[in-house]
This record gives sequence, C-alpha cells and structure tokens, in this order.
Amino acid sequence: MPAQQPLVLGESLNLKPIADGRGKLIAIEALRTVPFEIKRVYYIYDVSDQEPRGFHAHKALQQLMFCVSGHCTLILDDGHQREEIVLDDPTKAVIVRDMTWREMHSFSDDCVLMVLASEHYDESDYIRDYAEFRRLIDVQG
Ligand code: TYD
Repeated sequence: MPAQQPLVLGESLNLKPIADGRGKLIAIEALRTVPFEIKRVYYIYDVSDQEPRGFHAHKALQQLMFCVSGHCTLILDDGHQREEIVLDDPTKAVIVRDMTWREMHSFSDDCVLMVLASEHYDESDYIRDYAEFRRLIDVQG
C-alpha cells in the first residue's frame, strides 16, 4: 500500500510515480493500492468552475478520486464535520468511503477528475438529499 496520510474524513493516498527519462507512470491495483475491487472507472472533464458537482453520498460505494490533469476542490462531510481537500496533482488521491457526503468545486479548465469505484453504477445506492443523509447518519449512531 502507498503512504497514507490521515484525513479527518476519507483517506489520503500518495500515489508513487515510476519515473524514468520518458516521464512518469502511476499504477493503481485493486486490493493493493486501494482496499477494494475496482468494478468501474469514470472521469469528469470539460467542466465549468461555476458548476459544482457531487452533492450526494453513497450507501455502500467506495471510491478513489484524483485529478490526472488540473485541479478541483473536494469537500467531504460525514454528517458531523466537513473537510476540504484540493486535488491538484496526479499523485494525490483520496479514498471516499461509504456514507460520506461529497461535493466537488472550483474545477480548473483542464481538470480531469478520475474516479475508481468499488461497484457498478447503481442509482439506488445514492443519497442525493442532504437532510435524508443526516437522518441516516443519526439512525446509524
Ligand atoms: P452523478 O454521479 O450525479 O455526477 P456528479 O456526482 O459528478 O454530479 O452522475 C451524473 C449522471 O451520470 C447521472 O445521471 C448518473 C449518470 N452516471 C452513470 O450513468 N454512470 C456512472 O457511472 C455515473 C458515475 C453516473
């Protein structure tokens, strides 16, 4: 596993590039680099810095998020506290666990936000209403 820095929420991973005279390469492996099987990969690009995204939590999904190009600001919220992380380097990744509200703001024009996900797309896993998210957090205690 790569070096990890504790965040209050989420988990920061410093991905280690393999560098030679031709440039840099980063490899991410299921159950090695990330503690889950990778069932889905998607990326967000051609974004507007005026249009934040996310504003949801997932009941079970875990994700690894990082910018392969450009930068954006990731906000994580566990229902009790919020944390802001600037993703501005391809080596700087964050594991976003289940039951964590996330928002992405301040996208640079060249931002490509890569997301590796532990499950296939399933709309029923989303919690898109913040009040409902808080209610579920309180129920879980
Ligand atoms: P959504 O997860 O709401 O995007 P964001 O969190 O960036 O605001 O997804 C946007 C749309 O894309 C929504 O209609 C669901 C669809 N979608 C898929 O069909 N498959 C996927 O893997 C993802 C992530 C989204």
